[in-house]
Amino acid sequence: MKTLGLLLVGLLAISGSFGVDKNNFKSCDQSGFCKRLRAFKPEKSHYIVDFENVMIQDNLLFADVNAVDLESESKTVLFRYVLKISALVDSTFRVEMEEVNPLYPRFATMLALKDTPIADQLKQVSKKDGQLVVANSKGLKVVITADPLKIEFLDKEGEVAVVLNEQSQMLVEPLVQRAKKEEGGDTVEVEEEGQWGENFKSHHDSKPRGNEAISLDVSFPDADQVYGIPEHTDGLALSTTTSGEPYRLYNLDVFEYELDSRMAIYGSIPVLYAHGSKRTVGVFWHNSAETWVDVVNYADGTVVSSLVNLVTGGHKRRVTSRFMSESGLLDTFVMLGDTPADVFRQYTRLTGAAPLPPKFSLAYHQCRWNYVDEADVRGVDENFDLHDIPADVLWLDIEYTDRKKYFTWDAQKFPHPSEMVANLTAKGRKLVVIIDPHIKREAGYFVHEDATDRGYYVKDKDGKDYEGWCWPGSSSYLDFLNPAVSKYYSERFRFENFPGTSKDVHIWNDMNEPSVFNGPEITMPKDCRHYREHEDGAEGLHTFWEHRHIHNEYGLFQIRATHQGMLDRSDGKYRPFILTRSAFSGTQRYAAVWTGDNAAEWGFLAASVPMCLSLALAGLSFCGSDVGGFFKYPEPELMTRWYQAGAYQPFFRAHSHIETKRREPWLYEPATTALLRDANRRRYALLDFWYTLFYEHARDGLPVMRPLWQEYPKEQPTYTIDDTYLLGNQLLVRPVVSAGVSSVQVYLPGAESGTVWYDVDSYQPHKANGYFSQEVNIAKIPVYQRGGTIVPRKERVRRSSALMAHDPYTLVVALDANNTAQGTIYIDDGETYEYKKNKFIYAKITYTSEEIAYSFINEKASFPTKSWVERIVIAGIKTPPKAARLQQAGASVALQMTLHKGNDVLVVRKPGAAMAQPWTISFTY
Ligand code: NOJ
Repeated sequence: MKTLGLLLVGLLAISGSFGVDKNNFKSCDQSGFCKRLRAFKPEKSHYIVDFENVMIQDNLLFADVNAVDLESESKTVLFRYVLKISALVDSTFRVEMEEVNPLYPRFATMLALKDTPIADQLKQVSKKDGQLVVANSKGLKVVITADPLKIEFLDKEGEVAVVLNEQSQMLVEPLVQRAKKEEGGDTVEVEEEGQWGENFKSHHDSKPRGNEAISLDVSFPDADQVYGIPEHTDGLALSTTTSGEPYRLYNLDVFEYELDSRMAIYGSIPVLYAHGSKRTVGVFWHNSAETWVDVVNYADGTVVSSLVNLVTGGHKRRVTSRFMSESGLLDTFVMLGDTPADVFRQYTRLTGAAPLPPKFSLAYHQCRWNYVDEADVRGVDENFDLHDIPADVLWLDIEYTDRKKYFTWDAQKFPHPSEMVANLTAKGRKLVVIIDPHIKREAGYFVHEDATDRGYYVKDKDGKDYEGWCWPGSSSYLDFLNPAVSKYYSERFRFENFPGTSKDVHIWNDMNEPSVFNGPEITMPKDCRHYREHEDGAEGLHTFWEHRHIHNEYGLFQIRATHQGMLDRSDGKYRPFILTRSAFSGTQRYAAVWTGDNAAEWGFLAASVPMCLSLALAGLSFCGSDVGGFFKYPEPELMTRWYQAGAYQPFFRAHSHIETKRREPWLYEPATTALLRDANRRRYALLDFWYTLFYEHARDGLPVMRPLWQEYPKEQPTYTIDDTYLLGNQLLVRPVVSAGVSSVQVYLPGAESGTVWYDVDSYQPHKANGYFSQEVNIAKIPVYQRGGTIVPRKERVRRSSALMAHDPYTLVVALDANNTAQGTIYIDDGETYEYKKNKFIYAKITYTSEEIAYSFINEKASFPTKSWVERIVIAGIKTPPKAARLQQAGASVALQMTLHKGNDVLVVRKPGAAMAQPWTISFTY
């Protein structure tokens, strides 16, 4: 029998042709504050700093700011604000501005920052001619102009890198009391257009606090492009929004979302980067409310040239942006780079880097809505073995539950979950089950009863339990802002509370924007009420936060509780894996993300690259798309290309909609199955490389999946390339994302430094020289290893990653022009936190023409791996050595070598070096 939810989806699907129904979602004009703020374009900012009242202490500057009536001669002060600028470590500044004595406290975003940012120092440099100059401990200067308020951040050369309020669009709408008037002897509240309520379709938003929006313009002199503010489906480099909609950040469940769009979808990460050949800088807009961002790139053909000259003073390059949020504090971080790596590090220093994931989660995942029962799960599991395709994880979507009651199993279809899990784990495989945040309102369902009795649900505007519609039908939503609710939720994951689960069952948190089928824009009404810590005696608006304040971090609250629960269930022993659909700044500390409900179309395959790249720059490296496409059926060529692309994206999971034809890899013709098998095997061969990249990400916060300009920041053609990317700084990947092609254009960066790229299939060297044409038959995945790097591989075919733990390595050494190369490798048990107690190996491998040396970077750490080196492939060798000897643990052994391919690939055969100890192989000529 179909569920009501399914029926709804079915109805939506047949009510129109494929594609988003834009009527369900607001345009800027339909969003009260966006329309209001976009129209706010004063010639001059009405904020003036009062330099008489400035205080500088430690790392902080406080200054009084007056909002004046520019029309009045005496510049009457309308509202008073306090401006706070703080210097933080790592070339970062924070700027906050708030009313002096606001009518109500404004909501401060709660979960984005990892910790309290670390203070640097701030000193006054000068104060004259209406300008105050301060500097941090590195001498990076901030110039504050008093009238009107403008804040300029200078780079280390003293050039202006970032400017706030240059376009006079800074605004903190003052919180006001609702005006009253006498009418026919009664006192009535004055209605002001939209201020105390607004409508969208049949929904009314009551706005009890009135307007409280904020806005700020941020300019980037010398920038060629800006990037970031995911999640959107358009290109990695952001486009000028003047003649269309701004980029919207509001977590939404958008059915059949469209491509090349600035519409909001599931995730909202308000960090923006500006890049040019001079520098890279960034701003992090610390706000969880609905946000819109306008962008103007003055180098764009669409910006009229007279304006370009006026604003840029003849400079060719400049990008301006403007953030507008419905509520919250004006609180922004300015990150001064000045390289791409610096600025990405600065952002993850604030919001955290993803912790080391369990190794299996980097392998292949097989999902479908739904594997219908235990026999189906068993069949899928067995077919992977039958067809020799490695796989690590099987997934269960919502139908495994007892009628959409999470933390339960359908007793008919899944009567023996523990046995089912044991059957998977016997081969080293895992299970992931879905747990959504909506709770079925059904008498007798323990979560519902507990939540009702204890007041754990989000409340509606009148204080009653909010009821919405989702997969289970009538549902309510846990209010994770209440620490007691988060604790209760975490406890649901204990093995005794969720029978059938074990350490090998991991969690998928979906629908957590949150999705509400009958809510405004398919989400929760903004005037719903959330828990707020308050003092005894506090009343009314002081006792709750509205959903509008916290919307974009609702899902983050959920995954944080899930993460805690998964840690607690094993007493902190095992690393949890969580997949989340909604995302906000900080999500990376708990979960991986995917790009939601795409379709089996070439455009969605192509979009997976810029979408994941953009998320990676915003801290979310662990990203992938539904391989094969969620809606519709992928024909063999598309399926093949999607597996090939997915094999080189961080999160590699096939998934499909319940109403699509089954499409597990063996259901295609044998020739296609062989290609899908090949793609999976390529993934498994590189698992240790992926694992090392994620270990390094956890340490340095740099994207795992990188745009070319991160590594080649001066190389202008790379600024707009988003179909090609780097994994670490070692591999360049250019997936084939269009139908019927026999060649693709591949851009190889690094010509200036003489970089050589080696085709990973043939070891054929290509000198970097911009674009070249790569032939691509259906088996070809264009991937190149950079000369100067060493990549570890494991080439024995196994059923799962766990079974590869002790397999031997092949080291692929790709030589640079100086005949050198280096690499790193990380090894541990793959699933526990023992690595935090020095039970791991983090080693470097260096090649010179004299020797290859394997040595531990962290000498205090060790791990008893049984892995050894079975092969070393050296590509690009000019003068092959005559002899090679291995030295390890006091022994010295002569090794065999073979020359291949026009004598430029040397294979050292069976060196047998154990990876648990350092070793050296020396060459003689
Ligand atoms: C929406 C998710 O995006 C999709 O992946 C999932 O299959 C359905 N919800 C059903 O849970």
